[in-house]
Amino acid sequence: MKYLIRTYGCQMNVHESEKLAGILESMNYSPCTSASEADIVIFNTCAIRESAEQKTFAHIGELKKLKAQKPSMLIAICGCMSQQNGYAELIKKKFPYVDIILGTHNISDLKELIEKRLATKKKVVAITESEDISGRDNMPKCRTSGLNAWVNIMYGCNNFCTYCIVPYVRGREVSRPACEIEKEVHELVEAGYKQITLLGQNVNSYKGPDGEGEIGFADLLKRLDKIEGDFWLTFMTSHPKDISNELIDTMASSTHIMHYLHLPVQSGSDRVLSLMNRRYTTAAYLEKIAYARKKIPDIEFSSDIIVGFPTETEQDFLDTLSLVKKVKYEQLFMFIYSKRGGTVAEKLDGQVDIATKKERLRRLIAAQEEIGTSVAEKYVGKTLTVLVNDVHPKKKGYMLGTTYFNKNVNFVGDRSLIGKKVKVEIQSSKLTVLTGKIVEEL
Ligand code: SAH
Ligand code: SF4
Ligand code: F3S
Repeated sequence: MKYLIRTYGCQMNVHESEKLAGILESMNYSPCTSASEADIVIFNTCAIRESAEQKTFAHIGELKKLKAQKPSMLIAICGCMSQQNGYAELIKKKFPYVDIILGTHNISDLKELIEKRLATKKKVVAITESEDISGRDNMPKCRTSGLNAWVNIMYGCNNFCTYCIVPYVRGREVSRPACEIEKEVHELVEAGYKQITLLGQNVNSYKGPDGEGEIGFADLLKRLDKIEGDFWLTFMTSHPKDISNELIDTMASSTHIMHYLHLPVQSGSDRVLSLMNRRYTTAAYLEKIAYARKKIPDIEFSSDIIVGFPTETEQDFLDTLSLVKKVKYEQLFMFIYSKRGGTVAEKLDGQVDIATKKERLRRLIAAQEEIGTSVAEKYVGKTLTVLVNDVHPKKKGYMLGTTYFNKNVNFVGDRSLIGKKVKVEIQSSKLTVLTGKIVEEL
């Protein structure tokens, strides 16, 4: 029996697909690469923007013909789209040939739902809302991300940024017990993983049970940093309103934590930030960046920006451009605002027209190209510690690695280096990648 999982959206979904794969492999399914070979196809969906939804709908639609030819092939839809209000019904109507629909709280029920579907021939739907997360991590995980392992530390989001669907589809914040996370990280390091990425929508508000009490995120990091072994530790996503000086101090004095922070700012206009319910000002944001740079001089930042939020004026957008130029992000993820059903911003007056949104996005991309290129250039001539990840998929004879500030580096080498750290002298740079030569193996 063969399975195919198509994953959309964020790292949370990528990791959840590893859990789905783990369940399927425990049922003796093995992976395949095309739907025509598959006995089950799972769509792990995303609802963050309309474009994500449309793409997924198109892909589910493409299976109609195949399903008619091969009715025994199961089709399952899970992830954020299926959890959205009214979407299970919509999916059933639009795609009557779908066999199983499961929500974001029901991933661990996959086996049971497949068995039920096969036994009864009836379509099955399981969408619940539950804050009991005890079942969400005690399942086999079939990790697919090479030397990096994702570890969930919390689920859900309480922030209700006015544009965002996540709190509606992922439910309220619930943190995993610290000892469970510690055990999982420990096992991953023992198993040879070289990078551990802690996952949560807002990791800074982690508050996990610990013995009789609770611990916060900085203390969790201190605990994980004490684990012995050769690994890098990183996390996402941090909310600027919750990132504390204590957290930065913890990063600065740690052995394992990468000098990299994804700190999404969304906008450079205080008026827009307030409408977005982000609960920080640009001044407060820039202060946190300055504090981090003082304590960790070689830290690099990345961010997310939304252009065209309702009522965004040319001046608001210019303020965003100006903030981006001030911070000098190593990487920027830029999005056009997309109206999401049920959110507060959906009902705001002053929706920005699509031509203006596209034009602002284009200007922002152009500005970031210049900034990112100059950030990369400053590494030319420097020698950096690089974790060797894999052979380069395109450049023959080259290897790919990552620096401790999350920049891709390529250099001549062979696969015997995978998993090792090397010192690379950087000879040239581009926006997204540095190229150099190995000067020392560590
Ligand atoms: N929890 C994380 C990430 C959430 S989603 C955080 O708080 O940063 C990832 C990114 O998608 C967000 O940072 C935001 O920039 C973007 N995004 C979310 N909702 C959106 C919408 N309705 N339209 C456009 N972009 C959106
Ligand atoms: Fe969405 Fe805001 Fe929560 Fe991030 S913090 S998931 S942007 S509501
Ligand atoms: Fe992630 Fe998309 Fe859901 S970004 S949390 S998969 S809506």
